[in-house]
Amino acid sequence: MTQTAINNQNHHKPRKISGINAKGGVGKSTILKNLAHKLAIMGYKILFIECDFQRNTSKMLPEQPKYDLTHVIMEQVPIKETIYPLRENLFILPAARKLDKAANYIVVNGRRAYDVLKLQIDTLTEYDFILFDYPPNWTAVTEAALRASDELLIPVLLEQYSIDGLIELFDKIQEELYDHKLTILGIVPSNVNFSTLLSQEYLDQLKDQFPNQVTPYIRTDKQIPRSQAFRQTIFDFNPRSKAAQDIEQLAIHIITTGGNSHE
Ligand SMILES: Nc1ncnc2c1ncn2[C@@H]1O[C@H](COP(=O)(O)OP(=O)(O)OP(=O)(O)O)[C@@H](O)[C@H]1O
Ligand SMILES: [Mg+2]
Repeated sequence: MTQTAINNQNHHKPRKISGINAKGGVGKSTILKNLAHKLAIMGYKILFIECDFQRNTSKMLPEQPKYDLTHVIMEQVPIKETIYPLRENLFILPAARKLDKAANYIVVNGRRAYDVLKLQIDTLTEYDFILFDYPPNWTAVTEAALRASDELLIPVLLEQYSIDGLIELFDKIQEELYDHKLTILGIVPSNVNFSTLLSQEYLDQLKDQFPNQVTPYIRTDKQIPRSQAFRQTIFDFNPRSKAAQDIEQLAIHIITTGGNSHE
């Protein structure tokens, strides 16, 4: 092995990206799940961690998994035993309905329990990207998962309330995670329909308010709900659709941006 290869190996660290917004139904899971598949199709090794009891993505597994995120957080099983293959290069750490038990465990056990997930995830050096999908509500699991990640990808609808919600999210993160460094990888305009009143104005406002942080947008596309009805990704359902093209642009943006945590 050459010196360069040794160095690369030593420095290889997955990029850990949280797809989060304090608002519900803004397209977090849709974007993150399809992004995970796209990056895997492109040849990157991906781990998708579902921190949401709604389990939209975990349901893509052929059968109910034996272990899930709750077992990791409650220190019952090592993380490597809770990871299942979804497709070539793509693995999932599924969420369970009893994720609230995990949240209680963290609260009861205090400071050290908030870091269990991070310490476990730090052992996973074989991945290129680890992506975290969140519920809209803030729980102790949200905080533990944010502590395990380095970058934020924030889907937002082009609406006033949704843009206002960004400030609430940043305030909350600042308040709860002042001792953990998180960089903003990007704010992703989601479910964008330019025939809707004021969409372009809100996009311009977003770019003014958050310069250089707005990523390529994901357009509204009927193929998204249709693909979900068949529990398929947009790339398997309709790879030529608008949404598939937009997620691909987002994937390229992510590969070429951010990742300060690499160094
Ligand atoms: N680009 C899009 N085009 C059309 N429909 C979309 C698009 N993105 C998301 N949707 C639809 O919007 C709804 C909400 O999307 P999604 O579940 O991804 O949001 P979420 O932010 O993860 O929600 P939650 O906060 O409940 O986790 C879904 O029904 C989904 O099919
Ligand atoms: Mg979701």
